[in-house]
Amino acid sequence: MRIVLSSLALAGAGLFLAGCSRLDMQDQPKYKPQRPSEFFADGRSGRPELEGTVARGELQEDTAFYTGKDAQGNDIDTFPVAVDKAFIQRGQQRFDIYCSPCHGRIGNGLGMIVRRGFKQPPSYHIDRLRNAPVGHYYEVISNGYGAMLNYAAQVQPRDRWAIIAYIRALQYSENANINELSADARAKVPAVNAVLTPEQKAALASQPLVPKDTDFYNFPADPATPSGVPGAHGAGAHKTNQPERK
Ligand code: HEC
Repeated sequence: MRIVLSSLALAGAGLFLAGCSRLDMQDQPKYKPQRPSEFFADGRSGRPELEGTVARGELQEDTAFYTGKDAQGNDIDTFPVAVDKAFIQRGQQRFDIYCSPCHGRIGNGLGMIVRRGFKQPPSYHIDRLRNAPVGHYYEVISNGYGAMLNYAAQVQPRDRWAIIAYIRALQYSENANINELSADARAKVPAVNAVLTPEQKAALASQPLVPKDTDFYNFPADPATPSGVPGAHGAGAHKTNQPERK
């Protein structure tokens, strides 16, 4: 009864105050996170979780899937998930977003950030990495490696495996044996030697591995402005006797 009365009184007050304030549920007495409490003996408003509590969907029982390691702590070398074409394509998409800026679209380690000066990662096509178990890749994505930070926050476990499946596809593509193709498919592959002249091949071979980006390194302090454009270096600058700055 008291509750009813007081809520009537409240409603009345609400009517009375209508126009200048509102009484909403958000104004009810409540604890905000980490606020102290006099109610509980330990003085905390938040109640500790029971020992062994697991949040829904966070059990992570499958060690191989969540760590890339077997029971002995060694890198696994078989995928702990089923790999199909859609999965690899998902990996390609995630790889292009998260890894290609440094590792390059084909995994040769010449991504745009590297061409702008970041440490060059090893190519995925060197023997050591071609032979590295999938668990090693999972470890690198999850915990980082040398100069490379980890991508645990950006790439969830399932997507890490998808990326690794795609890296395996990249590695295969760079080492594919033409004799494994059907005769039909083989006929469609242009023979490099037939397409490039010896001069073109020599020119390709003499190119530096990381092309020097002259636009970037020689970026002018002032934009070059065609002469006679008013206001280019301050209003009327072109009218002074100052030589135009380039
Ligand atoms: C910001 C640049 C950058 C990005 C983005 C990046 N990496 Fe790396 N990665 C590096 C560098 C640099 C190294 C070499 C680190 C070293 O040796 O100090 C490296 C090394 C590696 C290696 C080789 C480890 C070894 O055993 O030598 C793997 C595998 C790898 N990265 C996978 C990935 C994957 C997968 C992604 C995307 C989820 C990714 N990286 C994103 C920069 C990057």
